[in-house]
Amino acid sequence: MNEAITQNVVLVGFMGCGKSTIARRLAHEFGLKLVDTDELIVEQANGRSIPQIFLEEGEDGFRQRETAVLQGLEGQRGLVISTGGGIVTREENHPLLRSLGCVIWLTADTDTVWERVRRHSGRPLLQTDDPKQSIATMLRERAPLYQSVATGDCVDTSNFSIEEITYGLAETIRFYFTDQKAGSVTRS
Ligand code: S3P
Repeated sequence: MNEAITQNVVLVGFMGCGKSTIARRLAHEFGLKLVDTDELIVEQANGRSIPQIFLEEGEDGFRQRETAVLQGLEGQRGLVISTGGGIVTREENHPLLRSLGCVIWLTADTDTVWERVRRHSGRPLLQTDDPKQSIATMLRERAPLYQSVATGDCVDTSNFSIEEITYGLAETIRFYFTDQKAGSVTRS
């Protein structure tokens, strides 16, 4: 495929909903640059890991870094941006996210998220006595926030393969950019 999309695609959603993997696939599909806000935070913290940042600066320090990363992306185009699951918890991030481009919300049910994240430690907010319950609570609390920030599709990734989701989203993105942002897509 030879397409150049000069806007950004932004993926928001809870941990374990497939943001990073799908962002990588979409970046490849459209020839866009992949950006991951968690990775940028780690880079800007001189390689300190996310759990380390949470430990040393608290969740608030991490959230400030998240906002700074979004501010740093302002004005850039041609990116697929995968965001950390809690980026919507700061109201001030909402206009920043929307100004970056088409915001797509990926979600999944509690059981699916739990199955996907249970073997991977390193998520500070899941270091609780009952991580599955924490997932259920945060999913419920954050759903309206994802919904309010999303300008594009909401996709429940629970029962679909990465290939199916990427295919469907690629179609939506083509529609979004050709329909609403005529002139920002070039094809050959
Ligand atoms: C967080 C999600 C993580 C990471 C940090 C906080 C959250 O990103 O930003 O651990 O608050 O949900 P992923 O959604 O990529 O796991």
